[in-house]
Formats: sequence, C-alpha cells, structure tokens
Amino acid sequence: MIVNTELENKGNLVPSKIINFKKDVDTLYFSTENNVVLQLTVLRDSVLRFRYTTTGTFENDFSYAITKYASTGYNHLEIEESKTDYIITTNKLICHISKDNLRVKLYDAVDNVLISEDETGFHWEESYQYGGNIVKMSKVSKDGESFYGLGDKPSHPNLKGKRFENWVTDSYAYGKDSDPIYKSIPFYTGLHNSKAYGIFFDNTFRSFFDFAHERRNVTSFWAQGGEMNYYFIYGPKMTEVVESYTDLTGKPHLLPPLWALGFHQCKWSYYPESKVKEVTSKFRDLKIPCDAIYLDIDYMEGFRCFTWNKEYFPDPKRMVKELADDGFKTVAIIDPGIKIDHEYSVFKEALDKDYFCKRADGPYMKGKVWPGECYFPDYTKPEVREWWSGLFKELIEDIGVKGVWNDMNEPAVMEVPNKTFPDDVRHDYDGNPCSHRKAHNIYGMQMARATYQGLKKFAYPKRPFVITRSAYSGTQRYTSTWTGDNVATWEHLWIANVQAQRMAMSGFSFAGSDIGGFAEQPQGELFTRWIQLGIFHPFFRVHSSGDHGDQEPWTFGKEVTDIVRKFIEIRYQLLPYLYTCFWKYVEDGTPILNSLVLYDQEDVQTHYRTDEFVFGNQILACPILEQNAKGRRMYFPKGNWYDFWSDEIVKGGRELWVDSDLDSMPIFVKEGAIIPKYPIQQYVGEKKIETVVLDVYYKEGKEKSQLFDDAHDGYDYTKGRYSLRTLKLTGKPNELIIQQHKEGKFDASYETFEIKIHGLPFEISEIQVDNVVIPLERIETNGISTMIINKEFSELHLIGTL
Ligand code: NOJ
Repeated sequence: MIVNTELENKGNLVPSKIINFKKDVDTLYFSTENNVVLQLTVLRDSVLRFRYTTTGTFENDFSYAITKYASTGYNHLEIEESKTDYIITTNKLICHISKDNLRVKLYDAVDNVLISEDETGFHWEESYQYGGNIVKMSKVSKDGESFYGLGDKPSHPNLKGKRFENWVTDSYAYGKDSDPIYKSIPFYTGLHNSKAYGIFFDNTFRSFFDFAHERRNVTSFWAQGGEMNYYFIYGPKMTEVVESYTDLTGKPHLLPPLWALGFHQCKWSYYPESKVKEVTSKFRDLKIPCDAIYLDIDYMEGFRCFTWNKEYFPDPKRMVKELADDGFKTVAIIDPGIKIDHEYSVFKEALDKDYFCKRADGPYMKGKVWPGECYFPDYTKPEVREWWSGLFKELIEDIGVKGVWNDMNEPAVMEVPNKTFPDDVRHDYDGNPCSHRKAHNIYGMQMARATYQGLKKFAYPKRPFVITRSAYSGTQRYTSTWTGDNVATWEHLWIANVQAQRMAMSGFSFAGSDIGGFAEQPQGELFTRWIQLGIFHPFFRVHSSGDHGDQEPWTFGKEVTDIVRKFIEIRYQLLPYLYTCFWKYVEDGTPILNSLVLYDQEDVQTHYRTDEFVFGNQILACPILEQNAKGRRMYFPKGNWYDFWSDEIVKGGRELWVDSDLDSMPIFVKEGAIIPKYPIQQYVGEKKIETVVLDVYYKEGKEKSQLFDDAHDGYDYTKGRYSLRTLKLTGKPNELIIQQHKEGKFDASYETFEIKIHGLPFEISEIQVDNVVIPLERIETNGISTMIINKEFSELHLIGTL
C-alpha cells in the first residue's frame, strides 16, 4: 500500500512469525520475532478488540470513546492451534490468526462464511519526526461489498470507492464531498452477502479510511500516530452492528427533556431583548409551535463567555423568565476561546489556576476568535472540566437558561492556515500528556462533556440539554449536534438528509442541520422543503448567519408560513412517537433514523439509495430535493405502506412516482403500525394532554408497536416512573385485535386513547374491550373508524362482517 503521509517515510514494516502465545482470561497475546504484539480481547461473542504494538509493550490503555458501561461477557471461548493458525472461536465468530504474519481472518461461527480478511493486515512506518509509528491496517475488499458510517461526511451514503480523512475542521460553507469537516467518527459498517460487520478504529490522531479507492480490492485505514487499536463488531444485521458500536461508545446518559425534541429557532444573532421578544411573540401570534429560542455570540459583553451585554440585555434573568412564561426555553452559545483580558474573571481564574493550553516550549496557546486574542482551556484535564462545569452556575441556575450550545470547539482559530492549534500544543489527556496531534479530535468532545456536567449540576432536577459542533466517537453520551455551516442551496438539502442518516448509523442520532441553510438565504420553496425534512430529524432547528436576510417561518409570505406551520404541527403531533424512538435509542442504541439499507439490508436495491429513510421503524419519508418538483420517484422497501395523506396502500419492493406539491411530502406508514400522537401544542407542556390518538394502520397479520411515556423531564423515569406500552396488532379478514401490555410505574395525565383505524377491510359489527361488548360508539370519516377507550385496556377486539 502506498501511503506517503509523512516526509520521512521509511517504508512499511510488517509483523514476522509468532514466537509466543499467552492467554489471560479474555485476552490473548501473540508476540512475533520482531517485537510486534497483538493483544486480542474478546469483549462479547460478536465484539473483538485488536490492539498492536511494535515495541513489545503497550501504551497506557486509555480511551475517551469507550464507555465503562459497555456490555461485556461472552458465552463461549475456545482456542485451538493448527499448523498454520491460532483459531479463536466464540458463539458468533471464528477468528484465525496466521502464525507466519499475524494476519487475521474472521468467519461467521454459525455458517463458516468468511466475513473479513486481512490483506497485508497490520503494518506501520516509523515516524522520525514525532516518534512512534504511522499505524496502518489493510483488509481485502470484496466485489459487491458496501461501506457506511463515518459520521458527518457530506458524500454519498455508500462510501465504496472513496477515501476519507478524520480531522475535525471548522468548514464554513463546505460542499458536497468536502472532507474532513466537523466530526471525527472513525467507525464504519461493511456489508457483503447480507452480512454486516463494523470496524471502530479508536485512534484520535488524524486518521484516514480508504474504501477500495486506491486499490479495487483493498480497504484500509491508518493514523498518523498512536496505536493500531480497533474493534471488530459482528452483526450479521446492520442494526446489531450499529447498536453494538453505540453500546461500546455509549448511549446518551439521559433522555433529552421533551421540549428539546420540539422546534428551535435560531439566528446569528437575535439581539437586543426587544428583537428576541418580537420573534417569540410572532411565533405565538401566528400559532407556529416553537420551544426554544437561541442567543448567539452577540448576547455577550465583547464575546466574553459567561458575560452579558447589559445594553442589549439589561436584565437577562427577567427576560429568560418572561420567555419561559411564554413557553420558550432559552439556549445560549458558549465557545472555548477565552478573551485575554486581565479584568475578566473567567480569564483571570483560568490563568491563576494554570488551566489554559500551552505550546511545547512553554508559552500559552494564543489564537484569534470572535473576542480577539484568546487562550483556550485544556478540557482534557479533569480539574479543568470540573472548573468549567462550575462556570454555568449563574447562567443556568440563577438566570434560568435551559440549554447550552458549544460552538467553534474543533477548536477553530481564525487567520491561521490550518484553522486550529499548531501540532505542538500540549494537553493533559486525562493524565496521558500528549500533543495536539492526539488531542485535536477529542478537544470539542471534552468541552461538550464539561458543559454537560455543568448543566447536569445546575439544571437539576431538570435534564441537561447541550449541542456541540465538533465531536469524536462517544460524544453522543453527552450532547446533541448539528452539521455546521451549510449553505442555502438545494444540494445542501441533499447533504443535510445524507448527514442526518449517516450520523444515526454512526451512533449519533440526536443530530440535525441548520434548516434553510446557514450561509446565504433560501427562497421560500427551499425553506419549505427543508422544514419538511427537518420534522424527521431528531434535532430540529432553523439557523442562519443572518447577514443575507431573515429566516423565520413567516419570512417568505403566507403560503410558506401556512405550509411550514402545518409541518411543524405534524412534528408536535408525532412527539410521543419520536420520544419512544429516543427511548429505544437510549436503551438499546437503536438508531432513530434508518437509511433503507439499515431497514432492509437483504434487499440489494437499498444498498445505494440516498434519499428515502425510515423514521423510527414505521414511518417512511422521502424529501423533495428539487426546485419546482410536483413529486418524485422513490423506492419503497418491501411490505405494504399507507400513504400518510390519503391512506392509499402502496406495495413495496419497487420504485414509484409520488405526487407531492409544495404543501405535501412523501410520507408513508408501515402497515400494521400503531402511531401515537399528541394534540397540537404551541410548545411542550402548553396543554394538559387529555387523550392520546393511536393511529392504527390495519394489516392482515401481526405487528408490534410501542409507546414510552414519563414526566417529559427530570430523573424520575430512571427510578422506574415511566410507562412502556407494547401494543400488539393482529389483523384477520374480519377481525382486528390490539393487545396492550404495560410496564413501569408512571401514570400519564390522560385517561383515554382515541383509536383511529385506517384501512379496515370490514364493517364493524361488535367491539369488545377486555372481553366485554361495548356499545358501537364510533365515528366514521373517510374510511377511518374512531373510538375512544380507556388507556388501560388489555385487549381491544373488533369483529366485523366482510
Ligand atoms: C459558527 C457556527 O457554526 C454558527 O452556527 C454560529 O452562528 C457562528 N459561529 C457564530 O457564533
């Protein structure tokens, strides 16, 4: 492999023969003649860790990505030796390690099919300039193999044939295929012959992935320092791979407060206070639901974090309270650059306590950001994170701000060619001192973590809400994210769709784009189409740079305002569905958005699809991505789908044209699904929910749906005060049965379900609730039968005449 990443390239070195083998419980050590050691740990039957050293000893084993809560334990572990190989067998995998050269082959333990195979396998170049190695891995890439993942890459979802870099970068107005941008998530899923596996290369140095780009049959990844340290995660289902990866790097520690799943309005910047109020009042006047309003950098005094411009915001506490009384949660931006100002308490304290990053030879890391010359806290030091978290007391506890937005945390530095710190800057790295080469990709993550700790402390007993721009694997534990400075173009709408799907299959579901585009101004049509896509993104925020005009829902005239309102209302109706999906994500790591390949990997038609996705596992959506379009062609995964607007049933497994004028969007519901809906509210908690609608989509056969509920904020659900309703639908030609099983101790405010049955093929002649016949009180409109029943029913049985 030709990888001339460093000037002093001395050529590739490879492991030689194994001369020693040792086992220590779940970890095996294979040592070669030339001092290479492979440490192989069996974490689970389907998860193996491969770690290599070229010096006979390993570095301190430390990772920001891997969570201490990751599931471990296997059912079976057997080690055998053949003439040529060591063979490690678990319940799921058989791993061969060649005695000649340490090359690895991995087989499915059930059917013995080869899943992954080293080409050269582990190899390295020595780095004269920095010490250590450039560590590399190459694997055979099969014809027909597909690759997915890697975080926020604005490229075709199937990564085959491309090369990527991981180095988090401030990327104003990036474009399609720009690389790298804001995130570093060195995890991908490979799919071949219906079997999916994942590789997580846990190395924070600048890294690269080549998916059969340089050589047709080779996939490789390498990093400019650190260890070759990767996790092999077997499925065979792609969803299992993503769930295992998310388990390993961490699911969000907490559910977000429900309001955070509502609509957010943002701009750079809303100020002074009267402008903020004008915007929020307009939402209420026009009856457009909205839960959060953002303050960008201009709320500060000279861009000093944790201060307020008293001219624009004379009494922030009062303002935040008044906004809260009107249902708005205030979210404020906080950047990492701290203005060099000896009168500024945050600066003085950090200087006194030695919390700022320093250059290799001693001076502080000085760089320009919005406030001018700044120093930057070293968030990789536990003490600094603790201090930083304490700074939020006033903002959160006293003033009442509900969420914090961490920006510029790549860290972005202005007017320098590399847009960030120079390589020599030193970091503590939690007691593993290193240069910025190693800490760059996790700097933003550690900032968001410290911010999260602050919000957790000071928002208590409410849940924290944080957003970050930069992220490394594992950041999803603490925060939501957005895709950075996009542009108001149709191409960027395509990018936003791909990025949100890709983030979800990279373990980070709580993501969204700047709706409408950050740079430049969209026309009303583009804005409308973007809102339509945005209602399906877990993080749902309009944001713009503001220097090209306004971007509020009413900016583009009445037609757009009315359509935008209609779609935001759908989002608010779907909140219990989305909240349930979020709960599954927090519980099991199940992605909230599912690209079609994730939804049905067996169907090869899905492997290269880009636009359609399944929201949760029962709502199929496909944005309109072209100007003046009156509809589009889209692929329907196998199964039957109800048109959300007309209830017409579409048979899947094929591509079809769907009409979709500006006031509509292709949305379909899986046959058999039961979709819970709230009444429209102007903000979460505006109304006491009196009844929840269950939209039931008849199917001949069976389907399972769920509804999770709790107090929508606070920690009670972690102590069992939640309710999880499992709804099992069984449809027969003249019968429909819905069985409900409830667990958890939470009792919701509503007493009844309003059941709306779509597509019922028979006339109802009898309704039984828990085996008791009840009067036939129902309303029939447009083929939908509606009835109200007590929420604690165990079985609803509809009997009919054909
Ligand atoms: C860059 C961010 O990406 C953007 O969202 C923000 O508005 C500006 N910084 C100003 O804070």
